[in-house]
Amino acid sequence: MYTSRITGMGKYVPENIVTNDDLSKLMDTNDAWIQERTGIKERRHIKKGDGNSTAVMGVKAAEMALERAKVSKDDIDMIVFATLSPDYYFPGCGVQVQEMMNIHTCPAIDVRNQCSGFVYALSVADQFIKTGMYKNVLVIGSENHSGGLDFTTRGRSVSVIFGDGAGAAVLSRSEVDGHGILSTHLHSEGKHALELSLKGPSTNHWVPQLIEENPQEDIPYYPYMNGQFVFKNAVVRFSEVIMEGLKANNLEVSDIDMLVPHQANLRISQFIQKKFQLSDDKVYNNIQRYGNTTAASIPIALCEAWEEGKIKEGDTVVLAAFGSGFTWASAVMKW
Ligand SMILES: CC(C)(COP(=O)(O)OP(=O)(O)OC[C@H]1O[C@@H](n2cnc3c(N)ncnc32)[C@H](O)[C@@H]1OP(=O)(O)O)[C@@H](O)C(=O)NCCC(=O)NCCS
Repeated sequence: MYTSRITGMGKYVPENIVTNDDLSKLMDTNDAWIQERTGIKERRHIKKGDGNSTAVMGVKAAEMALERAKVSKDDIDMIVFATLSPDYYFPGCGVQVQEMMNIHTCPAIDVRNQCSGFVYALSVADQFIKTGMYKNVLVIGSENHSGGLDFTTRGRSVSVIFGDGAGAAVLSRSEVDGHGILSTHLHSEGKHALELSLKGPSTNHWVPQLIEENPQEDIPYYPYMNGQFVFKNAVVRFSEVIMEGLKANNLEVSDIDMLVPHQANLRISQFIQKKFQLSDDKVYNNIQRYGNTTAASIPIALCEAWEEGKIKEGDTVVLAAFGSGFTWASAVMKW
């Protein structure tokens, strides 16, 4: 068996900064509420006409990751693209990236596991490298949430949380002994699928039906989130899946050099940090600046942590995610 290792990271966020005060001009909310409940100060939104889309942002992050990995696009063996906000209902963003970057006819897979999407995608890539089938896999997480949120007071408990952006990693066969992805751990529990969901348009709730119903109160085309239920499940599953990853590698909490949790809510990250008694320098958070960017949140955070010199060669890095599905996952790496 081979080992895979992240050889390059990249990120992209739209230039357009949307502050909490900006949102309070659109809906009944305020900076104090948003900061107190979520930690978010601002987020980025695609601006109409700025040329960005989920796939386009993914390409920008991917190009940075490839350059840093010093891997040519011709050496990419597979693309794995995680998103809940694809440019099209079908086909997926993976093939769009392939076309935009002029990558040869390698396989392109889309992963639909929402906030856990990047860790799932990393795990898919890891399996293909471990078995020796592929050497370099481009893993992307990208989201365009702003185009689909309800920016009226009706949607405030969801729309203040989410932001747009993309992150990417090049996962390569490791040439360095003992470095790379040690293990990944994936879970899901479909019984809570609708607690955080977007129901339409879908084959169950298709466009002609939506138009015919013209619903005033029933708004399946906006995301729904049972916030407190999601919060309670998140803190339990984050803890479980981090412990599962550590145990699988005979590691202790004290061995963690950097925990990069999915940026769901600062209060969730702080809860985990406190529970595991990790110092501030061992948990990376940037939700304050970007909001929750779902599948893009971990790669953006990991990229920034690395750029800021907070992750060093040989560090034990743990990624952990929880999100719609419900799905949850972790990855343990020796950097
Ligand atoms: C969404 C979340 C921030 C809401 O915080 P909360 O403390 O649970 O707040 P509640 O939903 O109980 O709402 C409290 C009050 O604030 C109001 N409120 C909701 N959104 C608001 C907003 N943006 N601005 C001002 N008030 C708001 C509610 O209407 C409610 O008012 P009421 O008491 O008069 O009914 C929180 O539940 C959460 O973060 N959950 C997890 C979400 C998450 O992580 N999702 C991603 C998973 S990957």
